[in-house]
Amino acid sequence: MNAAAIQPYALLDDKECEQRIVRAKQALGDRLVILGHHYQRDEVYQHADFTGDSLKLSRQAAGTNAEYIIFCGVHFMAEVADILSRPDQVSILPDMAAGCSMADMADLQHVEKAWQELAEVLDPDQQVTPVTYINSAADLKAFCGEHGGIVCTSTNARHVLDWSFSQRDKVLFFPDQHLGRNTGYTMGIPLEQMVVWDYDKPMGGLTAEAIRQAKIILWKGFCSVHQMFQPEQIDNFKQKYPETLVIAHPESPFEVCQKADFVGSTEFIKKTIADGEPGSRWLVATELNMVNRLHEQHKHEGTHVHFMSPHVCMCSTMFRIDPQHLAWALENLVDGVVVNQVSVPEKTAKLAVTALDRMLEVSP
Ligand code: 13P
Ligand code: SF4
Repeated sequence: MNAAAIQPYALLDDKECEQRIVRAKQALGDRLVILGHHYQRDEVYQHADFTGDSLKLSRQAAGTNAEYIIFCGVHFMAEVADILSRPDQVSILPDMAAGCSMADMADLQHVEKAWQELAEVLDPDQQVTPVTYINSAADLKAFCGEHGGIVCTSTNARHVLDWSFSQRDKVLFFPDQHLGRNTGYTMGIPLEQMVVWDYDKPMGGLTAEAIRQAKIILWKGFCSVHQMFQPEQIDNFKQKYPETLVIAHPESPFEVCQKADFVGSTEFIKKTIADGEPGSRWLVATELNMVNRLHEQHKHEGTHVHFMSPHVCMCSTMFRIDPQHLAWALENLVDGVVVNQVSVPEKTAKLAVTALDRMLEVSP
């Protein structure tokens, strides 16, 4: 059977899509599970069978029996779902252009080059645990699997680093320098022992001495959404509302996390605000769709949830998953056609699963 073309769906309004999504979900029943990340827009999020952060959704993907896993998130998430699910299950990303700009800041070629260059100063396979944030391509997870390394998420980064240092003396952490630095600092590692590897420069722009004295070598990657948050935004807001509680995702800059009352994953942010006192006021450093939803959910308790930046910081790639693409993917499935399957080559998946399994074992 041929796939129905996406173009006609672009002309449907959200309401029409909603009805068609609900009908298609009913037709597919338990052959389908929809996983939705917290950054998804409401018109998509409402259709998810399970919502969560990267760790929670990875566990859902590993545990589901559904034939089809539709991931309303970004590409690396659908890859993880494919890796952790059974071979007969199918992982689908409604829009293949939904990537992650941070994940794109590290690729296998540059990481292998870094590993070779580190070998000029030390023996990386004996002395360095490679740790990749889950926001990375499958071949980087495979690299970690092959070199005694591990994957982490924003929830378990501390546990993963504890494990990593129990294996080897140093860590190469990619792609997000902020998550690596924020986590390392809470473990008592001084900033001077966390150096930044600039992948565009020979030897990462570091001296042999700087590499030898480092505990964590941080990849020069960042999230363009969380990079927008600044400590001055906290100061300005608190001038008006001094009682405000500040909560930040650990992809935010170090100075923001230092000023925050709480730091954690999207699921942690959601739970912490839900457990807060009715009538409390929150300033949140994470993606806009999620912050707006939290505000709507809690405003009837008199709770105020504010976005930290004066500028709009939406994750534009998460936003690519719209009701039109979701309806298109689902109605094709009803017709027995799989569109936008995300499939990780077997050899890569085998090595990546080693690194992911290590992560799941040490996760809280
Ligand atoms: P979480 O795992 O905390 O949901 O983070 C994923 C992400 O991409 C945040 O930018
Ligand atoms: Fe990637 Fe940042 Fe979007 Fe998260 S918010 S998916 S890290 S670009």
